[in-house]
Amino acid sequence: MNTNTNRKKVTTKVLKEKKATGEIISMLTAYDYTFAKIFDRAGIDILLVGDSAANVFSGFSTTLPITLEQMIYHAGAVVKASEKSMVVVDLPFGSYQVNENDAVYSAIRIVKESGANAVKMEGGEEITASVKKVVTTGIPVMGHLGLTPQSINQLGSYEVQATNQTAHDTLIKDALLLQEAGCFAIVLEKIPAKLAKEVTGKLSIPTIGIGAGNECDGQVLVMHDMLGLNPDFNPKFVRKYIDLNHLISEAVSQYIFDVTHKIFPDNSESY
Ligand code: KIV
Repeated sequence: MNTNTNRKKVTTKVLKEKKATGEIISMLTAYDYTFAKIFDRAGIDILLVGDSAANVFSGFSTTLPITLEQMIYHAGAVVKASEKSMVVVDLPFGSYQVNENDAVYSAIRIVKESGANAVKMEGGEEITASVKKVVTTGIPVMGHLGLTPQSINQLGSYEVQATNQTAHDTLIKDALLLQEAGCFAIVLEKIPAKLAKEVTGKLSIPTIGIGAGNECDGQVLVMHDMLGLNPDFNPKFVRKYIDLNHLISEAVSQYIFDVTHKIFPDNSESY
């Protein structure tokens, strides 16, 4: 299905309008041209080139190893496929935490070399100076609070975040600071639905939830999770819309059978 003839290019302005009118924002990760093209034509608002590529594309157990160059490579492929969706790219671990200049340099490289529309950065108060500086250069920034996988060594686990009063209050404060610093949207990952609702109500910019309940201004999932590509990853917040793992293994088994029994190719598939 191609919905693109009827929709306009998604920009930060369009997202702001959606928040104002209560229209819910859809976001999915994408890391390559072929899937990004399918998602764009299906009408997804935002394609997130997540640093989760480190997990689902490269097989690392955390997002920490992926490099700026690798993010630019994935982003370039997604941008080529994207006609109407906005393309947001994660600044990878180590590319923006040292100082504001690093953040600006990394964000510029991503936008200049891939053609992406915006970057995403994890963290609260500690990154607001960098957010301000990146936004000043003309690059829109999406924030990311709650479970921030780049801090896994400090967090110690991928459990639900902000479950006590102090962390609850800090998250609200951080969300307001990110908004003030110029973020155009904030991802809220794995926090109680009640807190996500509260944050969403306090902000004039959209919140995009993942494991954060149904009261955010939008939702995001990792494509491999919602397409059922990994049978060993079944967290509560993921809804599998298709069991691609099963369908693909069946197709590949059939192909192996046909090849080994000389059923493929037949005459109609030969020159
Ligand atoms: O890297 C990623 O895929 C993300 C989403 C989980 C929001 O940051």
